[in-house]
Amino acid sequence: MTATLIDGKAFAARLRSRIADEVTALKARGIAPGLAVVLVGEDPASAVYVRSKGKMTREVGMNSYEHRLPADTAQDDLLALIDQLNNDPAVNGILVQLPLPRHMDESAVINAIAPEKDVDGFHILNVGRLATGQKAMVPCTPLGCLMLLRDHLGDLSGKNAVVIGRSNIVGKPMAQLLLRDSATVTVAHSRTQDLPGLCRQADILVAAVGRPKMVAADWVKPGAVVIDVGINRTDEGLVGDVDFDAVQPVAGAITPVPGGVGPMTIACLLANTLTATARANGLPDPQGLTP
Ligand code: GUN
Repeated sequence: MTATLIDGKAFAARLRSRIADEVTALKARGIAPGLAVVLVGEDPASAVYVRSKGKMTREVGMNSYEHRLPADTAQDDLLALIDQLNNDPAVNGILVQLPLPRHMDESAVINAIAPEKDVDGFHILNVGRLATGQKAMVPCTPLGCLMLLRDHLGDLSGKNAVVIGRSNIVGKPMAQLLLRDSATVTVAHSRTQDLPGLCRQADILVAAVGRPKMVAADWVKPGAVVIDVGINRTDEGLVGDVDFDAVQPVAGAITPVPGGVGPMTIACLLANTLTATARANGLPDPQGLTP
């Protein structure tokens, strides 16, 4: 058997095209969605992400507002900018690129964003809303993984899901989303005992640890769906957290790196911006973009 390839790149392109149609419809009613992205400092990887986010935002017809601040910006000045964006009706979504310089308190900055404009879903209110099953802004990468899983499997109810990684950005919200879809969820991490044995019980295996090719073939139950969130820069180029060549003959379906989860993250950022715009204007949530 060889696993079906889950083509996140194609799925994300379809999603962006649908979002572009919805943006056109909103604009016809005089509503122009806008996303503000704030980058503090000159981290090269962050600069690449921010450029790419701006480009995709404009491609779907939304307004993109980019704010670049020097690495030595005082936290109060960043908070003043966030306050200005919170109060700007042209801005429906606000994203502060992480990581922030070390002199800043990441939680204080994130929690200064108006929760309804927090398109990353990192604000403590959105974290709590997701955990309690209320209407929330949901973090983009796990939302993208959920969309791929639902598209491939349909109903996730009763499936055994193992999430490797417990980050606030991916692991924890991924677990919440799977639980919300009635999967049986285990979150594994660096202290987990017999990680291979645990993973072998998973119908759905999500790897989000940032360790190149960590998930080996004998960690995977035959036929399982494997979602690889890892993007690791190595001498052999970009590789995921899953040993793709070894796992592909065992799994039922697998996301490649690149071209799997990566493109879904930005598409879901645009989806969240569209949802935030709809909510800000008293319109119903666009179909299929929220859990
Ligand atoms: N840095 C790495 N991933 C992310 C993300 O999803 N959102 C933000 N704001 N920063 C990041």
